[in-house]
Amino acid sequence: MGIFDTHAHYWRSDFGEELDALLKELPSKNVEKVVAVGCDLPSSEEEIELAARYDHVYAAVGFHPENAGKVPENWESELIRLLSRDKVVALGEIGLDYHYEDGPPKEVQKDVFIKQLEIAQSHNLPVIIHSRDAMGDTLDILKKHKPRGVMHCFSGSAESALEIVKLGMYIGFTGVLTFKNAKKAQAACAAVPTERLLLETDCPYMAPVPHRGERSDSSMIAFTAAKMAEIKGVSTEEMLEITNQNGKKLFNC
Ligand code: NI
Repeated sequence: MGIFDTHAHYWRSDFGEELDALLKELPSKNVEKVVAVGCDLPSSEEEIELAARYDHVYAAVGFHPENAGKVPENWESELIRLLSRDKVVALGEIGLDYHYEDGPPKEVQKDVFIKQLEIAQSHNLPVIIHSRDAMGDTLDILKKHKPRGVMHCFSGSAESALEIVKLGMYIGFTGVLTFKNAKKAQAACAAVPTERLLLETDCPYMAPVPHRGERSDSSMIAFTAAKMAEIKGVSTEEMLEITNQNGKKLFNC
């Protein structure tokens, strides 16, 4: 079964002139589906346009917490307008990021995050959650709002992973899982039931070993899948099949 990359950023600013050739070739590299994820209005529109052009590409739209401090005044109605476009399968990526001291204030991030959770709920769409150095507040909000969705690029503890699973959510792992120093992510992956696991690149970032540090793309998931399969004690082929089915179930595509 083919790769389902549940979280990729295919922007021309990162891939330049190579973007179209790369996307066109993905099916021949065993990539069956990709959810291309926006981080503000222009990048979300970009992903919607790619979804319109490529059968195997779907789009997620939303405001990343790093952009929560500069949302336009009419952002909620603009976001809702994007949700009605073809092949928009989720709201994302949304969440909390307390990593940078000069990032948007926590209260501003929480407000934009919660409003997007409410929009997703009222449109019956899943959410793609980003949480960095903010697990406590993220979990509090998720417990209250109980969205359908995935915690993406998971690098937290096995304990937090299980709390998220208990809420009915999925856990997405990137190439980080293949890093030598990623013992925590590997332990979390071992703890999550296979029916809640998703594979993702978060490309162009987070390339798996042996491509660590390079610009990544969806085909590199094969390496992450092999590591995940080793952790779960199944074959890579089975791991791709399980995560593919999980992705289709969550994103209904
Ligand atoms: Ni991302």
